Amino acid sequence: HGAAKVLVASNRGPVSYEVGDDGSLNSKRGGGGVVSGLSAIGPDAGALWVCSALSDGDREAVRRGVGEEGVRMLPIPADVHADAYNGIANSVLWFVHHMLYQTPLEPVFDAEFRRRWASYEAYNRAFAEALAGQAAPGAAVLVQDYHLTLVPGMLRELRPDLRIGHFSHTPWAPPEYFRMLPDDIAEQVLRGMLGADRLGFLTRRWADAFEACCSARFADGLGGTRIGVHGLGPDADFLRERSHRADVAERMAALREEIGSAPDGTARRTIVRVDRTELSKNIVRGLLSYRQLLDDHPEWRERVVHVAFAYPSRQDLAVYRDYTAEVQRLADELNSRYGTPGWTPVVLHVKDDFARSLAAYRLADVALVNPIRDGMNLVAKEVPVVSDEGCALVLSREAGAYEELAEDAIAVNPYDVIGTARALHEALSVPPEERAERSKRLAAAATALPPAQWFLDQLHALEEQPGPAA
Ligand code: G6P
Repeated sequence: HGAAKVLVASNRGPVSYEVGDDGSLNSKRGGGGVVSGLSAIGPDAGALWVCSALSDGDREAVRRGVGEEGVRMLPIPADVHADAYNGIANSVLWFVHHMLYQTPLEPVFDAEFRRRWASYEAYNRAFAEALAGQAAPGAAVLVQDYHLTLVPGMLRELRPDLRIGHFSHTPWAPPEYFRMLPDDIAEQVLRGMLGADRLGFLTRRWADAFEACCSARFADGLGGTRIGVHGLGPDADFLRERSHRADVAERMAALREEIGSAPDGTARRTIVRVDRTELSKNIVRGLLSYRQLLDDHPEWRERVVHVAFAYPSRQDLAVYRDYTAEVQRLADELNSRYGTPGWTPVVLHVKDDFARSLAAYRLADVALVNPIRDGMNLVAKEVPVVSDEGCALVLSREAGAYEELAEDAIAVNPYDVIGTARALHEALSVPPEERAERSKRLAAAATALPPAQWFLDQLHALEEQPGPAA
């Protein structure tokens, strides 16, 4: 047994390494809810974060014995990781939970799928074994996400003394979609998850879907596993402070330059979106809706700009590369068809830049958040928090955030481009005072659950739950 009293397990960890030109290792720290949650329990809590070595730099860091206190990277062989992460987690489980399959052609669960599944099992086992080796007697282990669904069950067998939690940052598929998976695989996933004492989901809707999948398959449903709903919001203090630094002000000036002003000299309105270039984010239909807006309401031409930041994600998968190309193509097409010498209708940026995202948040008149399906969606919550003068929020009813923001957002069906165009027009037309008020209420709702609270609530619930039967 090890010494860690609180353990977190996730595919992507809080730090990553790059090998510099001179052979030195440079580290980069990531943010996000779990990072701020863990820091809230303090440095003396005996916390350990177990994650995958993802890049060559990460694997080199493990080889050289370089690392951060409290972080342990697992040197899973690159080919095993690729099959588990790209081949199963991102192309099967992500697709099932976000309902992304084009069913006449996909999925096909064949021998190649089975081969990758074996890697997914091996990758989950590597986590379970590392956790079992590092955890103190009775420790609490918080496993994160669809990459690691088998870990709770495997860990339970190795270490019956532990308190095990699992949290899903994605939606959960409804039973009639989930059962697309081969029966034995579907059961393995559910049984793996039910190895936990407690399972957490971002909304009631995803928790209910999971429970329905279990009831459809097992006579005793969830068995002894408890379910908790824990919404997650942004770290408002951090965002507000970070968005007022000099680099953000510089980016705002540059963006204003790109956006330009309307023929009558007033500032142009902005419809802002910031996403990973992710199939479920629905960026293409967002562009189609904007085109529809320009057709239905020509009075907005020259007076509005769609500021779209679509940052690279999962580019190892061909379908993501194709999607990225389509976003670029459509933006170019809109610009050549509608653009004028003084007006670029779509300002698209594809290179990740956090300061520029915050700059866009600050000057957004409208935020467009139209995912097909999304566990929560933090952009919907971040923009109202950071916005200088208040923004109108066009929000997909299929985003988890919708449950918390419905009152002051303008709801859309993400597939309906005409309806979304109408919502964009409505959002652009909200009078400034009303917009500011609604934006304030959105910000208040968005920050009701700060990330540290989200993390501590789960940890305490896990610790207080009646102990394992053993
Ligand atoms: C989603 C998942 C996270 C994941 C993130 C980025 O939010 O729930 O677990 O880390 O996407 O995706 P990536 O594949 O780059 O880690």
